[in-house]
Amino acid sequence: MPTTMTEFDPAVMGTHEFRLNPYPAWKQLRDEHPVYFNPAAGMWMITRYEDVLRGFRDHDRLSSTIMESSHNVVFGRSLTAMDGDEHTWKRNIIAPEFVGKKLEGFVHIVEQNAQALIDAFRGDGEVDLVDQFTTRLPVNVIVDMLALPKADHEFFHDCYTKFMLGLGPDAYLRGVAVAANADFHRYIDPFVRKRMTDPGEDLISKLCQAEVDGQRLAESDIKAFVSLLLTAGGETTDKAIASLWWLLLNNPGEFAQVQADPELFDPAFTETMRCEGPVPAEPRIAMCAIEWHGQTIPAGSAVTLSMHSANHDERVFKDPETFDIDRPDLYFGRDLRGGHMEEGRASHVGFGLGKHFCVGYQLARTEAVVGSKLLLEAMGNPRIKEGQNPRMGEGLAMRSVKRLPLVFDPRQPK
Ligand code: HEM
Repeated sequence: MPTTMTEFDPAVMGTHEFRLNPYPAWKQLRDEHPVYFNPAAGMWMITRYEDVLRGFRDHDRLSSTIMESSHNVVFGRSLTAMDGDEHTWKRNIIAPEFVGKKLEGFVHIVEQNAQALIDAFRGDGEVDLVDQFTTRLPVNVIVDMLALPKADHEFFHDCYTKFMLGLGPDAYLRGVAVAANADFHRYIDPFVRKRMTDPGEDLISKLCQAEVDGQRLAESDIKAFVSLLLTAGGETTDKAIASLWWLLLNNPGEFAQVQADPELFDPAFTETMRCEGPVPAEPRIAMCAIEWHGQTIPAGSAVTLSMHSANHDERVFKDPETFDIDRPDLYFGRDLRGGHMEEGRASHVGFGLGKHFCVGYQLARTEAVVGSKLLLEAMGNPRIKEGQNPRMGEGLAMRSVKRLPLVFDPRQPK
């Protein structure tokens, strides 16, 4: 058992207070134990910005295969749990569909879906933005990109919620997720088979037809990827949009700027990803013994790279708890797989970094920015319902708010 130097109490991390505000504990770890073995979780925690970057880039020694026992069991063979050539090959087939010109072809899908959700409540003068918008938009968009039936939106929503629950340690929930995935794969089976021989313009067809080095994806790979997409692109983006709005509505000065110039939703999204990104951390497994800050991480250990802590590291971001859409130390340019640190500006690490860097970073940003601009067009003077401001982090595994009840002055479509 590794020795720890101080009285950091790992039980803190299981408390309600930590869930609401994990940042004081992360700061203590960064300052006193930058490489910390948490006996309660049985894993090593890496918390400083620079170290988290190094961890994400060190693919040889810190492997993603730790996710074989969770992601592969729930989704089927998953990109997230692969390493090496197999990962590179499959990612090269998939990733180009989500960026640049190819993504532009899907922007109208984001607009249509956001507009349809908004039209359902625009006359009401009130909305729970989470229940009626943020949890719906990302999954509806993916379903349309896959050209699956809109009538089954509730089924997809139910599936990804179950998949998500099954990624944790609870054996019962894992079973529920595995059964839900089997149902989902049975459901998409005829769509995949048809599009293998008779492709359309949708994402499933593109995955069926795509080739790298003359090879195509197997049917099982395509289905596993579609399951991963629903989950990776659904829950995360939902939480990011909810947090963006919660942060803006709780920081009136920043919100006033965005209302005056909705183009500022873009930097506001970047700062949301830094300040309250939905994904707290990513796990890895040590492939050999690793010496780090005077500690030895034994081969085979679980290691967690804390993005929440890295994004709040005051060595990089001044007053890290302050939400500032114009902060001088944050890089507001395009999200980069390699990260960015130049002229005093550093990138957030909310989408990870390196080989497994988020495939959907541009889609998530598009949904958040396009969706938010349309929301602002429909809602005059939006504000949180009196006495109903939710607490960040309450009741959720990912970081965000569970509900966001708003009132507003209805505006007619232009
Ligand atoms: C704000 C929203 C999102 C956040 C915070 C987020 C976060 C992340 C993070 C942190 C990773 C890295 C995992 C690792 O290093 O192990 C990742 C990977 C991934 N994301 Fe996202 N994601 C978001 C939206 C999306 C969307 C919209 C999609 C697609 C529809 C997507 C698809 C993926 C995929 C397929 C991977 C696996 C990449 C690989 O293993 O090579 N994500 N995401």
